[in-house]
Amino acid sequence: MRQVPHYLLIGSGRVARHFSFYFEKRHLSFSTWHRNQPIQTLHQRVEQATHILLAISDDAIESFIENTLPATPATLIHFSGSLVTKKAYGAHPLMTFNQQLYDETYYTNIPFVLDHDAPDFADLLPGLSNPHARLHTTLKIKYHALCVLAANFSCILWKKLFTAFENELQLAPELAHPLLRQQMNNLMHDPRTALTGPLVRKDLQTISKHLNILTDDPFCTIYQAFLSLGLHHEHS
Ligand SMILES: NC(=O)c1ccc[n+]([C@@H]2O[C@H](COP(=O)([O-])OP(=O)(O)OC[C@H]3O[C@@H](n4cnc5c(N)ncnc54)[C@H](OP(=O)(O)O)[C@@H]3O)[C@@H](O)[C@H]2O)c1
Repeated sequence: MRQVPHYLLIGSGRVARHFSFYFEKRHLSFSTWHRNQPIQTLHQRVEQATHILLAISDDAIESFIENTLPATPATLIHFSGSLVTKKAYGAHPLMTFNQQLYDETYYTNIPFVLDHDAPDFADLLPGLSNPHARLHTTLKIKYHALCVLAANFSCILWKKLFTAFENELQLAPELAHPLLRQQMNNLMHDPRTALTGPLVRKDLQTISKHLNILTDDPFCTIYQAFLSLGLHHEHS
């Protein structure tokens, strides 16, 4: 007979906070531990756990398991999109988690990308019914690099625009929200036709003026990098 699952969620950062909230709303049986609590508490909670979720920094996961987790029959799971280790199965939530919690219904639709050799989803994360896919661990770094490029780096570009609107142009950052929303919608509708602007039009004079005005701005090199990518992209 299958054991009743009991999770132990380790960490107190962004992901740990989001998953505590999700598990609470799903009425899953779970306890938590973070490194500000006594180590004896960890050991007690490990004994009760069937599944241990390591919601801690990527670089700390392997050493934490080695040095801090006693031998346990519990299934060990980490959330890193790039770490490949024999010590725990990877289940990467393909989502961005900041300090703010999301609507409780939202969490059930967050996809998980599982290591190819991880157990069945129902055994790995019992009680959850999220969409999921498997990825061979040899492809994981490439996968994560692409996620970071697309999600994190576009965030840096949008942050730059919002800050400059406010501080340099005296424009309300919210004015750009419809543009951001439509760019996202166009991308999801058809990535092939989503790109517009001077690169697509080949407006070389406009591009040259942009580069001039950005000369002393660190984002100038990023603009130039996209230009060279744009030209290369045409031929790929
Ligand atoms: N945030 C996201 O959008 C996101 C998305 C998908 C996957 N992930 C993955 O989820 C995991 C957690 O990310 P996060 O964004 O929640 O990170 P985070 O907010 O920076 O929190 C990191 C947590 O790890 C703990 N920690 C760091 N080093 C530790 C150590 N040596 N021993 C014990 N605890 C340690 C920190 O404890 P202190 O507070 O005491 O420093 C903190 O509780 C990572 O593997 C990450 O790749 C994150």
